[in-house]
Amino acid sequence: MIESHVGVVISQYKRYYYALIVSNLYILRTKMSDKRKILATSALIYANGPLHIGHLIEYIQTDVWCRFQKMRGHQCLYICGSDAHGTPIMLQARRHNISPEELIEKMHQGFVADFAEFAIEFDSFQSSHSKQNQILAADIYQGLEAHGDIVSKTIEQAFDPEESMFLPDRFVKGSCPKCSAEDQYGDSCENCGATYSPLELKNSSSVISGSTPIAKKSEHLFFDLPKYQDKLKQWIAAGHLQEQIANKLSEWFTAGLQQWDISRDAPYFGFEIPGHPGKYFYVWLDAPIAYLAILKEYCEQQNLDYNDFMKIDSDVELYHFIGKDIVYFHSLFWPAILMGSNLRTPTAIFAHGFLTINGKKMSKSRGTFIKARTYLNHLDAEYLRYYYAAKLNSHIEDIDLNMDDFQARVNSDLVGKVVNIASRCAKFINKDFNNQLAATLHNPELWEKFTAQSNIIAELYEKLEYNHAMREIMALADLANQYIDEQKPWTLRKQADQAENVQAICSMGLNLFKVLITYLKPVLPKLATDVEAFLNIPELTWMDSGTALLNHSINTFKPLMQRIEKDKVMAMLDEAQQEAAIASASQQQTENQKNNLDNGLLTNNPIKDTIAIDDFTKLDLRIVKIIQAEHVEGADKLLKLQVDIGGETRQIFSGIKKAFQPEDLIGKYTVIVANLAPRKMRFGLSEGMMIFAGSDGDLWLIEPQDGAQPGMPVQ
Ligand code: MSP
Ligand code: ZN
Repeated sequence: MIESHVGVVISQYKRYYYALIVSNLYILRTKMSDKRKILATSALIYANGPLHIGHLIEYIQTDVWCRFQKMRGHQCLYICGSDAHGTPIMLQARRHNISPEELIEKMHQGFVADFAEFAIEFDSFQSSHSKQNQILAADIYQGLEAHGDIVSKTIEQAFDPEESMFLPDRFVKGSCPKCSAEDQYGDSCENCGATYSPLELKNSSSVISGSTPIAKKSEHLFFDLPKYQDKLKQWIAAGHLQEQIANKLSEWFTAGLQQWDISRDAPYFGFEIPGHPGKYFYVWLDAPIAYLAILKEYCEQQNLDYNDFMKIDSDVELYHFIGKDIVYFHSLFWPAILMGSNLRTPTAIFAHGFLTINGKKMSKSRGTFIKARTYLNHLDAEYLRYYYAAKLNSHIEDIDLNMDDFQARVNSDLVGKVVNIASRCAKFINKDFNNQLAATLHNPELWEKFTAQSNIIAELYEKLEYNHAMREIMALADLANQYIDEQKPWTLRKQADQAENVQAICSMGLNLFKVLITYLKPVLPKLATDVEAFLNIPELTWMDSGTALLNHSINTFKPLMQRIEKDKVMAMLDEAQQEAAIASASQQQTENQKNNLDNGLLTNNPIKDTIAIDDFTKLDLRIVKIIQAEHVEGADKLLKLQVDIGGETRQIFSGIKKAFQPEDLIGKYTVIVANLAPRKMRFGLSEGMMIFAGSDGDLWLIEPQDGAQPGMPVQ
């Protein structure tokens, strides 16, 4: 029934000039009737850890923007990838006894799967460890060398004599040379804020081997950044950056630009520098170049002209979306390298803030380090897409995810306001009118109000003011609900002569709903697809917001979105907490294994540092009898136990499901830590801790000799 889709176009889509203003700085005038050519990137994600919900701020922000541009009919490419090089990746691969290639491939596949479920729709997503990138990085480097932009200098660095490798700053730890605070990294002190070189640390040790680093000299290659100072200043003055970044940059200029060390000595996982055997490109040199390598490969596949994007006078708009921590690389090094390579520079760089959870940095120990996958195990991706959109603006502000607010916001806005409109109206159209929408709009003024917002909301998307756009859309949703409340189709329906009216009101409601979904589509693509199927219409474009569905046949309504239930959020947080505990245990284990010479149990699990007798006597260990043991619904690892501690019953949750069947435990005597502070878990209170021999899935119950009674102290 596609023919009937186009009803009357009440609000004409007008051609107009508009201004793109980012942070009141960057002004680009474009004719709306022209199809813009846009290339957008998100930062390449490091392949040494999984995608988490902090990263997702950026990928969702960029994805929404690119989807919006595509809906407007522009040619927009969204390019991204995984960042595969560097010391942390090399070491992680070693720890897992696999090659770095295997590790980055596995990580890459994980990213692809996670991004797909979050509906992040890249036009191309590739690894930086590719032949194309190697060729392009070599090309660009040789161009810079020929241009006189590379200088060679001998520098002294911390060297791990045991591992025979130079140590990155973060791989040296010791006491701060200024304030003597212990356990500080090689670049700066968390206690007094001093910055220094790793060689200045006192009592330093290599994080990799534990040995004392020595100072060793080596020749390094530097990119002559100061040479580009004037050009960079001009570029910045032309307004390509947010105000906050531009201000930060002028501080850096005042402090003076330094030459940038772009080489690393073997062993290093990366690309070898042409003409310099044993030297590798520092990961931050080839990572941004990978934006171009990925683009280039895409152009070859799609028969597009790569030069069209990157030539000096290109008419393609180029935008890099990044986090605030990598501004230096994108706003100084990268434009300078492009300038030195005679390539075009970015049109703008959009930096965003960091994610905080309940006001604090994401943290493994607080159990708020939430991987994308952990989130997906419990919640729908579109909830998070909406929540971030409702919080994001064009400034570099941190974004707080408060779990109660997240639940309330999604439930009230998406389920309570938006989807509710459809469920209120659809059932009558389905039941009473054979799925047929009315021939006219019941309230043309209200329709006009909705469609007139199209340009305003579009401009808010364009300027990255998503939070403002979501507010405008929800204000319209309120108007639609108000309209339905006033018209009361459910009452009119009881009067035989009001049938036509009921059809007109419900059709009006569904048309308003369609406009809202069009406006929300960049943020909620999956919901939009479901609505397109329900409304029996082709893929919605931005222009469709002005078109009403009249005399049109829809499909049967199916629930479009569920409310977020509190226990789902709690289950996600529990899982994050359990993962953090497991990760820290396995890290401890690998640390323990470092010095192992054989596979003896004791060497695998070396005795911990000594404690004072007072520490030991703080522990109250008691004999208990297990009187009840059962599985816990919804918990993968836990058993719920009731233990008799001598006249008192305690409930204990223990992560031992892998090792025991509940029925094998009932009636057994064992030992618990009786004075551990009770812990409130999702499933109830845990009032003590079981102790076992062994580790992980291989556990043995510690049973006393016959005769021991519940409640007896163990000392
Ligand atoms: N590999 C580099 C980027 C190279 S681009 C040529 C990198 N990778 S990253 O995986 O650490 O981060 C990817 C992006 O996610 C960065 O823009 C970073 O700022 C962003 N975020 C990482 N953690 C974040 C939060 N907790 N919150 C918001 N954004 C975060 O940097
Ligand atoms: Zn200090």
